[in-house]
Amino acid sequence: MEKKGLLYEGKAKKLYLTEDETLLVQEFKDDATAFNGAKKGVISGKGEYNCSISTILFEYLESYHISTHFVRRLSPTEMLVSRMEIIQLEAVIRNIATGSLVKRLPFQEGDVLEYPIFELYLKNDELGDPLVNEYHALALQLACPDEIRAMFRLTSKINAILRSYFERRGLMLVDFKLEFGREQGELVAADEISPDTCRIWDRKTHKKLDKDRFRFDMGGVDKAYQEVLERLSNA
Ligand code: TMP
Repeated sequence: MEKKGLLYEGKAKKLYLTEDETLLVQEFKDDATAFNGAKKGVISGKGEYNCSISTILFEYLESYHISTHFVRRLSPTEMLVSRMEIIQLEAVIRNIATGSLVKRLPFQEGDVLEYPIFELYLKNDELGDPLVNEYHALALQLACPDEIRAMFRLTSKINAILRSYFERRGLMLVDFKLEFGREQGELVAADEISPDTCRIWDRKTHKKLDKDRFRFDMGGVDKAYQEVLERLSNA
């Protein structure tokens, strides 16, 4: 599939048009940002690791009949995806308390959440992706009630599927972010699922194997992404 004009360049990925108007090429970059773009850097090999990890996880979800935008891998850093309208909300699920949750609410770092927490954030860089609830999302006309319910249902199902996949490979899926697109009235998981958008800890040592290593200058960022890829590649 031939790449045509650049449609959109984000902080970690580029989207290109193709000769087929229903398909796009999603290219993963080595560029990394954190704290709403305030911290910038390059993680060598990240584009390839994230493309590989997202491919494995989208294919795994498809095997559970979860619709994703993934069509096929094209190159080490590129995948073919379905073109769709993206809902301007980020769906987050948390299994373990960390990150912004422990800053905002009286949880202790590492608390196991008996009931996973579902949150919505507005995709809006200028406002710093604020936390919103379903009433804000409805009032902003970002999604209808059925879609918000479907986002919750799908994110919970994806959490259950991926959690046990990670567990079997000695990893904890601490929390993650998903974006959804609309395709023929259905919600489809889009964007990426990678150590940029998930928190992943080693099950035994709780070593962080995700973008927190970059956010907090912990070193060994590329090694951590490589380790996640190696473990997730195990059949
Ligand atoms: P948080 O604890 O910083 O709110 O992050 C929750 C999860 O969402 C974590 O897995 C990282 C992911 N995330 C993104 O993918 N993009 C973002 O812009 C932010 C803030 C978090």
